[in-house]
Amino acid sequence: MQRRRIADLEVNPIGLGCMSLSHGYGPPPPREQAEALLLGALDEGVDFFDTAALYGFGHNETLVGDILSPYRDRFVLASKCGLHGVDGKRVMDGRPETLKWSCEQSLKRLRTDRIDLFYLHRWDKTRVPVEDSVGALADLVRDGKVRHIGLSEVSAATLRRAHAVHPIAAVQTEYSLWTRNPEIAVLQACRELGTTFVAFSPVARAFLTGKLRDPSLLDAKDLRRGMPRFAPETYAQNLALLPAYEALAAEAGCTPAQLALAWLLSRGEDVIPIPGTTRLDHLQENMGATRLTLSADVLDRAGALINTTTVVGDRYAPASQAEVDTEIA
Ligand SMILES: NC(=O)c1ccc[n+]([C@@H]2O[C@H](COP(=O)([O-])OP(=O)(O)OC[C@H]3O[C@@H](n4cnc5c(N)ncnc54)[C@H](OP(=O)(O)O)[C@@H]3O)[C@@H](O)[C@H]2O)c1
Repeated sequence: MQRRRIADLEVNPIGLGCMSLSHGYGPPPPREQAEALLLGALDEGVDFFDTAALYGFGHNETLVGDILSPYRDRFVLASKCGLHGVDGKRVMDGRPETLKWSCEQSLKRLRTDRIDLFYLHRWDKTRVPVEDSVGALADLVRDGKVRHIGLSEVSAATLRRAHAVHPIAAVQTEYSLWTRNPEIAVLQACRELGTTFVAFSPVARAFLTGKLRDPSLLDAKDLRRGMPRFAPETYAQNLALLPAYEALAAEAGCTPAQLALAWLLSRGEDVIPIPGTTRLDHLQENMGATRLTLSADVLDRAGALINTTTVVGDRYAPASQAEVDTEIA
């Protein structure tokens, strides 16, 4: 499959989300496993790695820096600011001075002198005009510390305001068969502005792999425990969608995860999914989606089986929902 563009950079159509190596879905894997995963990813052709100051409150950037910095010229490195840990607590702070400080911390942890794509993880909308946060990131571009600016979970209107300050190379937002919010307006705005769309949680945090059958068995600290769609009764209703979806994947000669990724890849050459995994066999399976050629009929049927009218439950609980732009609720 043809490589995809983020501004003047070119990457494999599927990247790697590194979050779960430090944070999110239960205890992080042992270091040897994380190392094998990251180095194995390079061998599999992954050249776009996604991390954030938030993930493990610096642990994830440190891990990526420790393991991948010897190969720094072989990949596009994305990280995020605006959400980080302070004294063990998650803090949102989009003030210009904080973002510049956060960039310095990220550069040190990542063992690099430049971050290729630096996102504002959330717009600190009650305190800081987005123009001010993006202005700080533009200063970092001028200083040579950051190559391109991205935004995460913003509406089309916020993207346009930010883009007027400095070109926005990428928007990162949840997008998959079961989360279609970007289809409302953000994707269209990205296309008008030449902004690449990076799809996070592209296999629906494991739902679309068919491997997560019982969310009541998830670790007590697993983020999915607080998400309405993963509440046991709701999830049971969503599970009822899977047999037909799994049968469609089998008919198409691929796995359910690959069908989910192939569907995203078919949304446009400006869409780049970043599935996360702690396992090399899962990573290999996911990368296999770039080698599939599925018919429009199969892709349409996947979209008809799993979509906002068939899936039950909100994607976020109210506290997390309050942090995102209303238009992409
Ligand atoms: N900007 C934001 O606010 C934001 C929010 C969330 C995530 N992200 C980014 O997006 C990345 C991906 O999102 P995500 O990790 O939330 O969701 P995801 O990629 O949709 O799903 C990850 C989950 O699916 C499982 N999985 C992945 N591939 C699999 C396969 N082939 N077979 C079976 N299970 C599989 C993983 O478990 P295993 O480890 O067992 O494979 C993990 O539990 C993150 O790493 C992060 O970089 C960004």
